[in-house]
Amino acid sequence: MSATPLPQRKKVTLHTLRQKKTRGEPITMLTAYDYPTALAIDRAGIDSILVGDSLGMVVLGYDNTLPVTMEAMLHHCKAVARGAKTPHLIGDMPFMSYQVSTLEAVRNAGRFLQEAGMDAVKLEGGRDVAGAIEAIVAAGIPVMGHLGLTPQSVHKLGGYKTQGKTAQAARQLIEDAHILEESGCYGLVLEAVPDRVAELISHRLHIPTIGIGAGAGCDGQVLVTHDLLGLFDRFTPRFVKKYANLHAQMNTAFTDYSADVQQHQFPGPEHSHSISDDEFRELLEVLEAERV
Ligand code: KIV
Repeated sequence: MSATPLPQRKKVTLHTLRQKKTRGEPITMLTAYDYPTALAIDRAGIDSILVGDSLGMVVLGYDNTLPVTMEAMLHHCKAVARGAKTPHLIGDMPFMSYQVSTLEAVRNAGRFLQEAGMDAVKLEGGRDVAGAIEAIVAAGIPVMGHLGLTPQSVHKLGGYKTQGKTAQAARQLIEDAHILEESGCYGLVLEAVPDRVAELISHRLHIPTIGIGAGAGCDGQVLVTHDLLGLFDRFTPRFVKKYANLHAQMNTAFTDYSADVQQHQFPGPEHSHSISDDEFRELLEVLEAERV
């Protein structure tokens, strides 16, 4: 099988992302959790890959992202780093890996770069996590913030709901965005935020904003790849555009395979290895002789 030659691309860095914001060029980001997906995303010329803790839901089958551990994140980050050489790689810090103490936050953030080949980390929250962000950045580790709907706080938020819908809530969101920028974040994910609020934040900040369910006014967009591909069958958020329906295609392929095996249609001669007539005849003679 011949591999498609990779287009020559330069590694996407923080500088590239900043330049894109300055030039008004949209930043593209997708999630990935494994080697083949990372490779395909790289070949498609996407700027950045987020190894999101969404993997807990779309890959590991949990009800939410809370059970995802550091070890699970590092395992998947390593696979992605082996597949994607050009995109900017971000490892998502899982629940309880940065909340307990600043020391633990810095140690855990460092593991994403030192052990798993990531270029940066992402963590959720506003002013409450500003101290952790400052310490991680001071250790030389780039941090992307995440505001709006922060899935690790699903119980506190009372569900997966749009955030910043009242003037007061939006004001608080804007304040938090400024705090994160001042704490040293190089970028900010805005999830499930009204489009005009997200656009306001994007204009006010110097760092790029990456929206998911936050309208077209952000500096970039991210989607969970399993949603975009139609691979996650449990539900699809309203803000997702499905570019394929791979779950249905997988279903058809598996059903067809099962039918082929049961009806002796697979494997055919083209899928089998052969032995020459002479060798096979000799084998049968040997077996026959052994029976005597
Ligand atoms: O975990 C994730 O995939 C994320 C994105 C939804 C931004 O945080």
